[in-house]
Amino acid sequence: MSMTKGILLAGGSGTRLHPMTLATSKQMLPIYDKPMIYYPLTVLMLAGIRDILVISTPEDLPQFRRLLGDGGGLGVRFTYAEQPRPEGLAQAFHIGRDWIAGEPCALALGDNLIFGDHLSVLLQRAVSRPAGATVFAYQVRDPERYGVVSMDASGRALDIVEKPAAPRSNWAVIGLYFYDARVSDWAARVRPSARGELEITDLNRLYLEEAALNVECVGRGFAWLDAGTPDSLLQAATFVQTIQSRQGMLVGCPEEVAYRMGWIDADRLAHHARALGKTELGRVLAELAGSQQV
Ligand code: G1P
Repeated sequence: MSMTKGILLAGGSGTRLHPMTLATSKQMLPIYDKPMIYYPLTVLMLAGIRDILVISTPEDLPQFRRLLGDGGGLGVRFTYAEQPRPEGLAQAFHIGRDWIAGEPCALALGDNLIFGDHLSVLLQRAVSRPAGATVFAYQVRDPERYGVVSMDASGRALDIVEKPAAPRSNWAVIGLYFYDARVSDWAARVRPSARGELEITDLNRLYLEEAALNVECVGRGFAWLDAGTPDSLLQAATFVQTIQSRQGMLVGCPEEVAYRMGWIDADRLAHHARALGKTELGRVLAELAGSQQV
C-alpha cells in the first residue's frame, strides 16, 4: 500500500476546556510552545504522508488555513474541508470521500500527542501493509474513556468497543488509524451509534469482522497523551517542555520533520527559523539549518 493521504481531524466543540475553547478551536490551543495540531500533523508527516486534508468546523477552519496555508513551505499539500456538525470521527471519510478518491488513507485526531523512540518505524510499517487497517493500542488506567480493544494471546484482536462501562482490557485505541483503499466504502456502512455519532470504533469493527484489523501494541517507552481537560493539557505541555529542554530535541515541529524527511532544504529551514524570530524554536531550527542567524 503506498499511503499518500492522511486526514487531520480538528472538529468538536471542546466543551471540557471551556472557557478556553469558547472563541477558538481546542486543537489550536498551545501545548507548551506549539499549537496542539502540530503534534498529530508531524506524526502523519513522519509516516511519509504529504497529502493532507484538514477537517474542522466552519467557524474554526479559517484559523487552520491561516496557520498552515497550502503546505508548500513544508513540502506538503494541505486541503481543507468543513465538518458542519460533530457527527462522529468516521464522518471524516464521508466528507473526504472525493478527495480520498479510492486510495488508502490515514486519520489522525487533532488532539492526540504520540511520542516515542522508533515511532517512524511503527508508522512506516502501518503504511506499507498491503491491505487492512492498523490501529495502535496503549495501556491506560482508565480505558472506559476510550475505544478499547481486547486481544488473544497471539495479539489478534477479539473485539473493539467504544467507551465500554466494563472494559475487557486496559488497551485503549490511540487516535491514529491507517486504512486501506476500502475505507470510504466501509465508512459508508457505519450507522449512527446510541449517542448519534458515526463512531470510528464501528468502522474498525468492520475491519475486525473481516479479519483485517491489525493492532500494534505500543509499549512503555511511548507516551500517548490527550489534551481534553485542563489537567491533561498541562501534563502534555510539561511533557514536551521536559523532553525539549533536557534533550535539546524538538517534539512536534513540522519544519524540522519536513527537513529531516528531505522535503525542504536547509535554505528553506533557515527561512522558517527567521520567521520564528527570537523564539527558542527559531534558535533550534536555525542551528539545524547550519545558520548563524537567530
Ligand atoms: C475518540 C475515539 C476513541 C479513541 C479516542 C482517542 O474518542 O472515539 O475510540 O480511543 O478518540 O483519543 P473521543 O476523544 O472523541 O471521545
